[in-house]
Amino acid sequence: MHVLVTGGAGFIGSNFIFHMLNKYPNYRIVCLDLLTYAGNLSTLKSVMNKENFRFVKGDIADREFIFNLFNKEKFDVVVNFAAESHVDRSILNPGLFLRTNIIGTQVLLDVCKEYNVARFHQVSTDEVYGDLPLDRPDLFFTEDTPINTSSPYSASKASADLLVQAYHRTFKLPVTISRCSNNYGPYHFPEKLIPLIISRALNDEALPVYGTGENVRDWLYVEDHCTAIDEIIHNGKIGEVYNVGGHNEKTNLEVVKTILKELEKPESLISFVNDRVGHDMRYAIDPTKIKNELNWEPTTKFDDGIKQTVKWYLDNKSWWERIINGDYQNYYQEMYGDR
Ligand code: NAD
Ligand code: TYD
Repeated sequence: MHVLVTGGAGFIGSNFIFHMLNKYPNYRIVCLDLLTYAGNLSTLKSVMNKENFRFVKGDIADREFIFNLFNKEKFDVVVNFAAESHVDRSILNPGLFLRTNIIGTQVLLDVCKEYNVARFHQVSTDEVYGDLPLDRPDLFFTEDTPINTSSPYSASKASADLLVQAYHRTFKLPVTISRCSNNYGPYHFPEKLIPLIISRALNDEALPVYGTGENVRDWLYVEDHCTAIDEIIHNGKIGEVYNVGGHNEKTNLEVVKTILKELEKPESLISFVNDRVGHDMRYAIDPTKIKNELNWEPTTKFDDGIKQTVKWYLDNKSWWERIINGDYQNYYQEMYGDR
């Protein structure tokens, strides 16, 4: 099988590439990534020289480039992780999110249609459902929960999902969509809550908690997300949406305090700051469908996953320190500069 992974130099895409190369040594994997601020080629260092892996730098929204790539290589499966992914940045610059997340997805849908790709899988988010109230712990997102977005990020992801479904209905494109809760684990860019708190706490810097810290997220260890996508692309039903996550709900304050305990750092580092505008209160996934249809369940409990994650950040300081000091952006030049 020949798989194109877009956005594979980012957090989840890179973990997915490691998962796939490890589990399916006979598959050929191509990673396409624009290497925006969130893409880090050094993350892929350990697989760069594998014969069945290739990295291509490019933009999913660049139609000519994408059609040229597909003209040269035949892909059986396309898994689209490429996106602008940070809610706070979408509040500052919504336009970029529309271009990458919507137009980029449309270009990929068009090229998959043109070249009869056997499966297009869209990696989406539970944020397309909006949020749930804190005083209704009985409510969860199912695949039938109406789309009801809050941020330019979630609106762009929802728009992309609707396009994916439209291409299935109108053009019979063989698609699947996964909507996942918040991921955490190795190679998470240190602007997102968990790696931000770990890296700042290690440097004894103030830890910004938005509002009162009561917002709830349903945390999923990244490897569990990768196994879910693996299941969906191999056994998921064409045209279906699968929610991925479940029952690892924590308030932001609980998450921050757990990390501080793990690092033996004082809670006095916590600094309550102005709330994010439009801040979603609670995300919580009902994973019944993926459990019943594909027998997938998360295997890592938050208490274990957060310990592993903290350990990874302690053992891989150079990875995130290079991000914080900006050096990681020179890595492409080092790798490919004179080729
Ligand atoms: P990330 O920001 O770490 O990585 C995104 C990657 O996409 C980067 O490597 C970046 O260089 C690349 N990229 C951006 N624009 C591009 C373009 N125009 N062309 C090609 N590549 C481009 O994001 P992530 O956290 O790994 O998320 C991956 C996907 O999963 C996204 O689609 C996101 O919406 C979705 N998702 C993320 C989470 C989460 O908790 N992180 C949860 C649910 C869904
Ligand atoms: P984030 O990691 O940005 O993911 P998302 O917004 O997609 O859920 O944020 C997770 C939660 O942590 C969210 O409720 C916002 C909050 N948060 C903070 O309190 N402080 C921070 O510095 C960041 C980045 C997020």
